[in-house]
Amino acid sequence: MIIALDGPAASGKGTLARRLAAHFDLPHLDSGLLYRAVGMAIAKDGGDPSDEAAATAAARRFTTDWLSDPDLRGDAAARAASQVAAMPGVREALVDFQRAFVGQPGGAVVDGRDIGTVIAPDADAKLFVTATVEVRADRRFKELLGRGQAAIYPDVLRDLRERDERDSRRTVAPLVPAEDAYVLDTSALDAEQAFEAALAFVVGKTGRR
Ligand code: C5P
Repeated sequence: MIIALDGPAASGKGTLARRLAAHFDLPHLDSGLLYRAVGMAIAKDGGDPSDEAAATAAARRFTTDWLSDPDLRGDAAARAASQVAAMPGVREALVDFQRAFVGQPGGAVVDGRDIGTVIAPDADAKLFVTATVEVRADRRFKELLGRGQAAIYPDVLRDLRERDERDSRRTVAPLVPAEDAYVLDTSALDAEQAFEAALAFVVGKTGRR
């Protein structure tokens, strides 16, 4: 069983993906980490994530041990990720790894921006998880404070708007719902309600409990 979750940053798709994976006992991949790892690999070498040749070369060198870097969760990695993710060569270099993950026996849960459209167009259940940018900024802001990091709400909001814009406008694999995706707006839902709605959709679609 393959479950694809796409959506903008801080929409709650990562939490939903983890919970669905646990519920159905499936492996989970947060595909955003791949782009974050490529962006950080360049930044840590003193390079510029907007340098397409460097980014493509880094993506071709990608190995799974890059994923254990704790800095990948930070905002610098997120910004670098959304820059390198707009480059066709970077995306192409990361496709095989993601398709192999999706294709493992038994299936997988993968979240990102283009899982239902590009990586796993035949997924059994596709969700497009979204929320207003203000609600997402508020969640991200509280999450940062909860982790003991300094955060300023207007900066978090501006950052998300910029990323949304870049992710939606790029020509390769832009952030759009797959035609057959269930659009789940979590703006007015708490984490539990969002999970119940996502689970009900997957159960209805696949017949699996
Ligand atoms: O989901 P996350 O915030 O970790 O993603 C970081 C960035 O990686 C996104 O802003 C997006 O540009 C890119 N990304 C992507 N395709 C994916 C996952 C993430 O382009 N499947």
